Amino acid sequence: MYQLIKKEGNARRGQFATVHGTVETPAFMNVGTSAAIKGGISSYDLVDLKCQVELCNTYHLHVRPGDDLIHDMGGLHKFMGWQRPILTDSGGFQVFSLSTLRKIQEEGVYFQSHVDGKRIFMGPEESMRIQSNLASTIAMAFDECIENPSPREYVEKSCARTTRWLVRCKEEMARCNARPDAINPHQMLFGINQGGTYDDIRIQHMKDIARLDLDGYAIGGLAVGETAEEMYRIISAVEPFMPVDKPRYLMGVGTPINIIEAVDRGVDLFDCVMPSRNARHGHMFTWDGIINIANNKYARDDTPVDPHCSCPTCRRHSRAYIRHLFKSNEMLGMRLAVMHNLWFYNTLMEKIREALDEGKFTEFRDHYLPILGKRI
Ligand code: GUN
Ligand code: ZN
Repeated sequence: MYQLIKKEGNARRGQFATVHGTVETPAFMNVGTSAAIKGGISSYDLVDLKCQVELCNTYHLHVRPGDDLIHDMGGLHKFMGWQRPILTDSGGFQVFSLSTLRKIQEEGVYFQSHVDGKRIFMGPEESMRIQSNLASTIAMAFDECIENPSPREYVEKSCARTTRWLVRCKEEMARCNARPDAINPHQMLFGINQGGTYDDIRIQHMKDIARLDLDGYAIGGLAVGETAEEMYRIISAVEPFMPVDKPRYLMGVGTPINIIEAVDRGVDLFDCVMPSRNARHGHMFTWDGIINIANNKYARDDTPVDPHCSCPTCRRHSRAYIRHLFKSNEMLGMRLAVMHNLWFYNTLMEKIREALDEGKFTEFRDHYLPILGKRI
């Protein structure tokens, strides 16, 4: 259940209630693809890092260790030791980005595992059954994520198929939730909007899926080759056709600037590998811009990564120390960097929510947009 608390322009402050607790929105979902945040971050670290929702991947967990195993272990929450909400992506993106020799048919996708080359079939029913075994809080519909730009005829054909897949997802999810061995019989289903960079196809697709009365709606197929301006244009085009009483999720996005721009256009939920991936390369977000911690200029810098930050890393350690850890390939370096960046993203969302609560989001946006993308 999504409750809209406050609006400023199109930006929304809300609360999204689930069986695993309430998510304050706008929120960032921290990516733990294979039931772990890369960089050695545990579930209890995530609580300290103000993470509200963790995202895991159907495709990865199906390939290894297997969703049947996770079901037998009591579901993903118990397996990972994480009791707050979990969203699982459907495999509809990873199948296309990771697997080889894929063949898309009406029934689903045939492909080879990126781990052992095994031949696998995944369609809407398989994706729903896997996600039901994982027992996540929110399951994503099985879709085709089309790269941008793609020819109009292909996008039309693919979108129509994604809609038919969504109807099958909804029917299968109802069957899964009714099974006596369902670990989470209240599992929710979000539909995913596609349509490449064609506004009219996007809008028609959003109208078609909005009719299915799902638990939430995502915008997919963005940040896959188009410019940021095109992405913002598409969000603004489809937003008026997204149900107001359901959460809205922009998949795989993005930079702090992308997030502020998308909140400004009415988006509630985000996920991205950027904070953890960039941290592993020494790129750290600060409230003054982006720094590379391996830089020589930090060799004798006794200050924290970000003087305005009170994350577990900045509370205790200096730039000089973290730079040293990176230079010496100590895994603690990555762990401390990832903790800082996840804290930064979760704090960014907290600040966005506070600004909305106070009716000062526009002020917040105009202050931070020129700063957060700078390399300093
Ligand atoms: N992650 C980022 N983009 C997408 C998308 O279009 N579909 C799915 N399923 N996951 C995504
Ligand atoms: Zn910090």
